[in-house]
Amino acid sequence: MIRSVVRGIGSALPRRIMKNTDFEGVVETSDEWIVQRTGIRQRHIAADDETTASLGEAAARAALDNAGLTPADLDLIVLATSTPNNTFPATAVDIQQRLGMRHGFAFDMQAVCSGFVYAVTAADLYLRGGQAKRVLVIGSETFSRILDWNDRSTCVLFGDGAGAIVMEAGEGAGTIADRGVLAASLRSDGTHKEKLYVDGGPSTTGTVGHLRMEGREVFKHAVGMITDVIEATYAQAGITSADLDWFVPHQANKRIIDASARKLGIAEEKVVVTVDRHGNTSAASVPLALAVAVADGRIKKGDLVLLEAMGGGFTWGAVLLRW
Ligand code: ACO
Repeated sequence: MIRSVVRGIGSALPRRIMKNTDFEGVVETSDEWIVQRTGIRQRHIAADDETTASLGEAAARAALDNAGLTPADLDLIVLATSTPNNTFPATAVDIQQRLGMRHGFAFDMQAVCSGFVYAVTAADLYLRGGQAKRVLVIGSETFSRILDWNDRSTCVLFGDGAGAIVMEAGEGAGTIADRGVLAASLRSDGTHKEKLYVDGGPSTTGTVGHLRMEGREVFKHAVGMITDVIEATYAQAGITSADLDWFVPHQANKRIIDASARKLGIAEEKVVVTVDRHGNTSAASVPLALAVAVADGRIKKGDLVLLEAMGGGFTWGAVLLRW
């Protein structure tokens, strides 16, 4: 059977690092509060000349280099983002143009923080359906542009960045020993849409708007939703937490990551954590964390890796793959 195998990975971060102490004098907060409640110590913030498209392009080029491929080898680009360069065209098409690619097709995927997990699942279906042989999947965000910098309960949580993978159709035996995507489970529930949203848009206010979040409410639902969708993914593949080599969760809050891993019985040393240095980069958080763990040699070819995310909507999902 066809399996969607990761062939390369890359990432890109804005030049400017903003430390927790840099918020002092901006809003009433402290390094101690931010670290204790979230685990975040710093985040990268895009300059005017750094956009979702430029960061996405840089991550894409790094992933192509890592795969030993060029844009000519791609059939499809899926960009997960909630902070596109423009309302339209899709920023994926902008990146396609920046890569000098005039064949194939490209589109954006909007599932907020779950965007990358949704995009990997979509790419897997295009590959297994025979519509594409190689797909570039990018998560790129500039959340700094939609933050209310006077709201201390949200502005300290988010950062900017991009991560990308190249996925390629390969042959598998149909067992969980295969490399590639092995199982996936996606969910959404719009009854929670007012707990985490942006208060603007083209069809309502005609403005871009700012991120609004009832943090405590999101936190309350997060662990249960994350663990449910992971258990559904385990059931599809017939595995348990003990079989995993690496857990790469969405990097929103260290307390949510720890509580989810504890509830699932995933050993602490198998959990990849980058929220301390990146903050919450929404759809970029999972590929950025993956890129760190691949670059430092933790994730190796053949390892069983579980990706998970949860975000605005609510949307949530998990993907199990063998690297
Ligand atoms: N500095 C200092 N104090 C603060 C700050 C700050 N930056 N922000 C809030 N506070 C205060 C609050 O005003 C409140 O004060 P009060 O008790 O006098 O009212 C107090 O700290 C406690 O606030 P809580 O909101 O209860 O704090 P909590 O422990 O819940 O932590 C947090 C807040 C970090 C936002 C947490 O709720 C959280 O992580 N929620 C989930 C966020 C998340 O995972 N989002 C997921 C996806 S994001 C996406 O999809 C885009």
